[in-house]
Amino acid sequence: MSNMQRATEALRASKKVVFFTGAGISAESGIPTFRDKLTGLWTKHDPERLETAAAFRENPALIWSWYLWRRHQVGQAKPNAAHLAIPQLSNAGWEVSVVTQNIDDLHERAGSSQVVHLHGSLMDVKCFACHRPGKLTPAQLGIPEEGQLIEPPRCVRCNGKLRPGVVWFRENLPEGAWRSAVRLVKNCDLLISVGTSGVVMPAADIPNMALAAGATVIHVNLEDVGLDAADEIMLTGAAGVFLPALLRALGVGAPLPPDGLT
Ligand code: APR
Repeated sequence: MSNMQRATEALRASKKVVFFTGAGISAESGIPTFRDKLTGLWTKHDPERLETAAAFRENPALIWSWYLWRRHQVGQAKPNAAHLAIPQLSNAGWEVSVVTQNIDDLHERAGSSQVVHLHGSLMDVKCFACHRPGKLTPAQLGIPEEGQLIEPPRCVRCNGKLRPGVVWFRENLPEGAWRSAVRLVKNCDLLISVGTSGVVMPAADIPNMALAAGATVIHVNLEDVGLDAADEIMLTGAAGVFLPALLRALGVGAPLPPDGLT
């Protein structure tokens, strides 16, 4: 039996499905991943330098401007076929949740409702000083010109600087998000890990957590990232191809145009 057939049978037999996603699921929407040599965001930046509280403290305007630019980039992007396949499975009767490491809102814009953001969201801001959530006016969402640095707005409560509502290196994951993720992962029949290099803990431990809880794990990635456990299935290829193909194999979701992939 091919891996695609094994994956189709595992999905057919499941009820509770968790999609665990990383930057790779948004790559086909034009959002750069982190570690891809060519397109990775970080070929130009040193992540340890930019994605930290220390970097924000040192140069708040640089970090704030970078996030404004990334937020704009996400706003220009559209959910791709992989994002769209997930709510289709839920509409067909499966109990579907999404646990994502991504800070974009493409899952929500694709129609997924149960989305847990382990690393926060580009759409949220909070105060760097008092940690209270903040709100931005449309004027504060202006896109920096090339090379322009914009000072972060101020917290209305304590006048501290507002920062992106994302998790930086050496910061803890949002308490509630991690707890929800663990509960979903330990109670699912099937975890479909899509587009993650599996290098950043504790999120990277999620597939093993699912296996340990007796679930089957399907990996969808351009590279073979599977650990070859008995209940682990590797689908090597693009998320935007494999997720719709899995649904079609089950007779779910929009049929292919006549010249489409089988
Ligand atoms: N389809 C499937 N997989 C893809 C695709 C695609 N079209 N394009 C890229 N990939 C895979 C790559 O092979 C890689 O394994 O997606 C993965 C992206 O890995 P990373 O860039 O490391 O992104 P991610 O795993 O989400 O990083 C985890 O690290 O930097 C932190 O907070 C950041 O949330 C991020 C975390």
